[in-house]
Amino acid sequence: MGFSSGNFATMTLAAAAAVVVLAASTSPAVANPAAPSVPAGPLDITKLGARGDGKTDSTKAIMQAWKHACAATGTQKILIPPGDFLTGALDLVGPCTSSIIIRLDGTLLGTGDLNAYKKNWIEVQHVNDFSINGHGTIDGQGPLVWKHNQCAKNYNCKILPNSLVLDYVTNAQIRGITLLNSKFFHMNIFECKNVLVEKVTITAPGDSPNTDGIHIGDSTNITIKDTNIGTGDDCISIGPGSKTIRVKGSRCGPGHGISVGSLGRYKDEKDVEDVQVTDCTIVGATNGLRIKSYEDSKSALKACKFLYDGITMDNVSFPIVIDQKYCPNNICVKSGASKVAVSDIVFKNIRGTSNTPEVVTLNCPNNLPCQGVQLINVDVKYNKADNKTMAVCHNAIGKSSGVVKELACI
Ligand SMILES: *[C@@H]1O[C@H](CO)[C@@H](O)[C@H](O)[C@H]1NC(C)=O
Ligand SMILES: *[C@@H]1O[C@H](CO)[C@@H](O)[C@H](O)[C@H]1NC(C)=O
Ligand SMILES: *[C@@H]1O[C@H](CO)[C@@H](O)[C@H](O)[C@H]1NC(C)=O
Repeated sequence: MGFSSGNFATMTLAAAAAVVVLAASTSPAVANPAAPSVPAGPLDITKLGARGDGKTDSTKAIMQAWKHACAATGTQKILIPPGDFLTGALDLVGPCTSSIIIRLDGTLLGTGDLNAYKKNWIEVQHVNDFSINGHGTIDGQGPLVWKHNQCAKNYNCKILPNSLVLDYVTNAQIRGITLLNSKFFHMNIFECKNVLVEKVTITAPGDSPNTDGIHIGDSTNITIKDTNIGTGDDCISIGPGSKTIRVKGSRCGPGHGISVGSLGRYKDEKDVEDVQVTDCTIVGATNGLRIKSYEDSKSALKACKFLYDGITMDNVSFPIVIDQKYCPNNICVKSGASKVAVSDIVFKNIRGTSNTPEVVTLNCPNNLPCQGVQLINVDVKYNKADNKTMAVCHNAIGKSSGVVKELACI
């Protein structure tokens, strides 16, 4: 990778020169040239020294644009025009006194040099009123580093940088862009409120490690709409502390489906409440709609008020799953005593085909049965002739209606 310190030094000079030029052209009467001056109009990163040649390090230019925009007032626009802009960590930290729009028409390439990251790649923190839109791409260049992912062998592994992270962000929109081949998760939404992800495409190979599409945790009012996700792990995963989550008109596959969980891995996890997944298609995924919690959950929490309505399954291995005996790598104590209470879960108008006979799996704990589970108009057929469609259900209480008899297990 062209990520030498030589590049960095050249960049610093180029960026500094560009700022002087900008400052001179837009505000000739600046008294103190050392103070950051905010040029009028959009901040085009190529005017701040970024080079779209796929190999020059453009980190400094983008950080400079962010700092200018964040310190200004009103609505500030950062332009990333067509071109391939290589960068290391981009810590887009607030609080800001402006609203910031990043217009992304080019491609951001995350360097394969892991020393260029502390934790994540593009990390937006403590910002209100923020958006990224355009037709550009956030390319994590995962193929350069996936071989360093040891998570299949070691569950407490070191994680590789996530591509786009929103932490403590309120009122944000991510629209139109593509996220490609992240090193780890493509998007991570943590402690956020009022976020809309719309018309976004997220793509990585079906066998790429831990390349979840969008993970949500400890966040409220997050909507994912008209989005197309195909990766090597969960398309969408909804972790503890998530409330009022809407997923609509979206497509998932390949991948591990749309999951709530895993719940109960850590102490002090908060409830997951009010999740709606509507009018979505799941294609060739290992799971469709899944809720999973650790068999020996470390905290007591609720997962309640979920509606799954209008879902088409196409060759999905396990279309409907509640798995409360989740125990990856056998890291948990199989006590059989869950503390995750699952209730008021409606699966409605679920149609299509499965790639195993097991269309419905409801595996709830003996000590804490799932309550208020409803299967309404569920008709998913096994796509091969050699076996019958079936449901495997333990400790699920609720009702079935309009469901073929092999699947009507409650
Ligand atoms: C929820 O978020 C959306 C943006 O996705 C926003 O338009 C709406 O006002 C928010 N709702 C509340 C109650 O804040
Ligand atoms: C279904 O998916 C499996 C992989 O999960 C694949 O091998 C198979 O070809 C697919 N079948 C159809 C009919 O698409
Ligand atoms: C039918 O399904 C059952 C349960 O999954 C499995 O044990 C059996 O091997 C399957 N038979 C065929 C022919 O696939």
